[in-house]
Amino acid sequence: MEIRYNKSMNKAVKPLLNWYQKNKRNLPWRKDTDPYHIWISEIMLQQTRIEAVIEYYERFMKYLPDIQSLSKIEEDQLLKLWEGLGYYTRARNLKKTALIIVEKHNGVFPQNYEDILKLPGIGEYTAGAISSICFQEKTPCIDGNVMRVYARYQNKNIDIQNPKEKKKVAEEIKKVLPKEAGEFNQAIMELGETICIPNGIPKCLDCPLKKEC
Ligand code: ADE
Repeated sequence: MEIRYNKSMNKAVKPLLNWYQKNKRNLPWRKDTDPYHIWISEIMLQQTRIEAVIEYYERFMKYLPDIQSLSKIEEDQLLKLWEGLGYYTRARNLKKTALIIVEKHNGVFPQNYEDILKLPGIGEYTAGAISSICFQEKTPCIDGNVMRVYARYQNKNIDIQNPKEKKKVAEEIKKVLPKEAGEFNQAIMELGETICIPNGIPKCLDCPLKKEC
């Protein structure tokens, strides 16, 4: 049976943004919105926990501070830097993408969702994250955390692995995205990672959405 979402997330936007402003974690890739920084961090975060990513990210940036250096690194050195993170296709795609940006985009990271989505290893989630965080585009960014937060907010059992459901949630979230789309996307992911947690009891008393949820 088709699930209907009857509660708009409209009322959640302001409380979420305020909560994020006060509570966001101080992470090394949040010092600026350089697309190189956001891209590398989002790729690392796809299969790895935030706490584990921090030191890999810092080492990566020390050796490869920009797209040019990444485009020139030998593959064996790159894989050495990636060692421990696993899923090595991610690392190979990083270099492929860096080469494309240097050769076809004059070394400048593409600045909109459609162009970002064409790059190797970048899917809807990552393109949505980069275009909203770096270029203020109103693109949703739906990961497992967002699906869970959304399902609980709607008080519905949603199959969060189902691509059809994901698409519907993306459409619903897109409707309410504020001009601070990047902040909103990060806020809802962060809420899922720290308050509306997947395992154990969610910390509803500390949740900025407790009145509406
Ligand atoms: N998980 C993955 N990317 C994230 C981000 N940008 N902010 C918070 N949590 C995340």
